[in-house]
Amino acid sequence: MIFVNIIVINIFNAIGDIMQMMNSVLILGRQPALGLAELESLYGSEKVSAVGSNAALVEVDPCLLAFDRLGGSTKFCKHLTTLDTTNWKQIEKFLVDVSPGHSQQMPEGKMRLGLSVIGLDVSVKQIEATGLTVKKAVKKTGRNVRLVPNKELELNTAQVIHNQLTGPTGWELYFIRDGDKTVVAQTVKVQDIESYTRRDRGRPKRDTRVGMLPPKLAQIIINLAAGKLPEEQLQNICDIPAGEPIPRKYFEKTVLDSFCGTGVVLQEALLMGYDVYGTDLESRMVEYSHANLDWLTSDQVYDATITLEPGDATNHQWKDVDVVAAETYLGRPFTSQPPQEILNQTVSECNLIIKKFLHNIHGQLKAGTRLCLAVPAWQIKQNQFKHLPLLDSLEEIGYNRIEFERVQHGDLLYYRADQIVARELLVLTTK
Ligand SMILES: C[S@@+](CC[C@H](N)C(=O)[O-])C[C@H]1O[C@@H](n2cnc3c(N)ncnc32)[C@H](O)[C@@H]1O
Repeated sequence: MIFVNIIVINIFNAIGDIMQMMNSVLILGRQPALGLAELESLYGSEKVSAVGSNAALVEVDPCLLAFDRLGGSTKFCKHLTTLDTTNWKQIEKFLVDVSPGHSQQMPEGKMRLGLSVIGLDVSVKQIEATGLTVKKAVKKTGRNVRLVPNKELELNTAQVIHNQLTGPTGWELYFIRDGDKTVVAQTVKVQDIESYTRRDRGRPKRDTRVGMLPPKLAQIIINLAAGKLPEEQLQNICDIPAGEPIPRKYFEKTVLDSFCGTGVVLQEALLMGYDVYGTDLESRMVEYSHANLDWLTSDQVYDATITLEPGDATNHQWKDVDVVAAETYLGRPFTSQPPQEILNQTVSECNLIIKKFLHNIHGQLKAGTRLCLAVPAWQIKQNQFKHLPLLDSLEEIGYNRIEFERVQHGDLLYYRADQIVARELLVLTTK
């Protein structure tokens, strides 16, 4: 494992140093491996390390992190320090020592305090008791404090938003166990749940038959396909006010979704600053993508090129593609285990279409082009999957499967416990 630049300080010397670190801590989503692979893909494995089971430390200045473009992280924090202990009493002592000083650097007004914990041996009650002790210590400086009550060990995104914990007088602190140390971080931003919901449910054209790709997963697919972002691009994104579209001049890349359906990947790629190119076998789907992108661009001007056309991915000729990001044909939806014969038929059908697509597009892409395809895998028993046979012959078809340092291929699966058809994220480059 490559060790990032964590400064481990004696917990009782922490006071003056607490605001000086410039690394970021990301709290990962429901399937942490996807978020970790996304970060590794964008920032390089040398800059990313796992912290406990569902957080990551990224050696990138928080300003350059472009959090709104990440689908696999739910909260974005500034790394404050790493304590050489996992003992909650000692952590509490640290907090009582540093909090009064920190509160004095805040603008006037009631301080709002929230505590979140991952992986430490502590109960919700103990966290609350610590919160009250900290509140008392801060009150002695003459400032009022509202302590946000924990329902669970971690505050949820809605609580952070509702209590304005990322505002000028808010302070949500994370304590994340990392082996025999505790990473301490301050939440800077949380996922914009409202915007994701609007982008998902607000679209005029949706189709349950082709499936509902969550916008967050579309972002992960695009980021895995795009690969490492050069520092100057990050610097450019950093200067764009929150919520404004990213001008295409920063990327100048075209993302192709060759199975575009209702256009979720295209929509998210457009928001991320790419030119987009969508094709689908069904003209109706191309019309749906059109309507959805029209809706998206109706109240905001996008300086991007949008190309949409019908096309069978097994023989279509595309023009000028830089990156391929697609949720391919997933076969029949199953709500319960299908009979073996039906399952085999479905696997062969999907395998054939996707293999023919990979053959067809190979000659149209420059060597080294990256692709991320969400392909089907079938959960035949709990956490046991039947994969597409073509995964064993990728090299023969002319592709390399990208290896991640922190994540195994088998972990790049998106599914819910009771779901039969999972999406397997296949990250490839052309040879
Ligand atoms: C799982 S859906 C993709 C849904 C899409 N991500 C969205 O946002 O709605 C798969 C799509 O592949 C299309 N499809 C199936 N076979 C195809 C082929 N041979 N060439 C191109 N598209 C195909 C279907 O029409 C369907 O829209």
